[in-house]
Amino acid sequence: MEVLDNNIYPIFDRMMGREDKEALLKQHSLMIWFTGLSGSGKSTVAIALERELHRRGLLCRILDGDNIRSGINNNLGFTETDRVENIRRIAEVSKLFIDTGIITIAAFISPSNDLRKMAAEIIGRENFLEVFVNTPLEVCEQRDVKGLYAKARRGEIKNFTGISAPFEAPSHPDLTLDTSKLTLEESVNLLLEKILPKVSR
Ligand code: ADX
Repeated sequence: MEVLDNNIYPIFDRMMGREDKEALLKQHSLMIWFTGLSGSGKSTVAIALERELHRRGLLCRILDGDNIRSGINNNLGFTETDRVENIRRIAEVSKLFIDTGIITIAAFISPSNDLRKMAAEIIGRENFLEVFVNTPLEVCEQRDVKGLYAKARRGEIKNFTGISAPFEAPSHPDLTLDTSKLTLEESVNLLLEKILPKVSR
């Protein structure tokens, strides 16, 4: 029996595994990790993608910033330390879904290479598809769906990504989508081209 040095005895080796779950679901699991500014379109694209995959008989789970931050991560803010803990927990939860054979779609700003690297390492690089929703800041700010850019400009929100906190563009994303240039349907089709060969069996 595996024993960790803190009196913990994980039972991973005796549980049914990912292969069994994937066979049951007749699919392969995959992590689809969206990164981009607030208002860039991550959630909208994630929701449309989920519908298309579901329609093809594929089981998916969306993990989204505002949802996760109102539940499991409701004790975290937007300091660098809290953002690390936010993404660490999300990555660990995502790993559980991946190990259950489920196509997992994460929509978080995840504003730095280090954060995304940590997520990819927890989840496993071979399972990880990084999608950069590269909608220009001006467009996100103009959309300002939640009114947060206006608040950030007035100094009412601290550490706001793109205004008073950094966003580091990924250097080698698997796919880049600019939702100010592409229709929602075009974005979803580009995603499906990448995803379907990896999840179908
Ligand atoms: S992350 O940087 O830690 O990955 P996450 O995706 O979970 O961010 O949460 C981002 C959402 O939180 C935004 O879409 C926005 O609605 C809200 N939010 C509130 N305060 C901030 C802030 N200071 N910076 C960025 N987003 C914020």
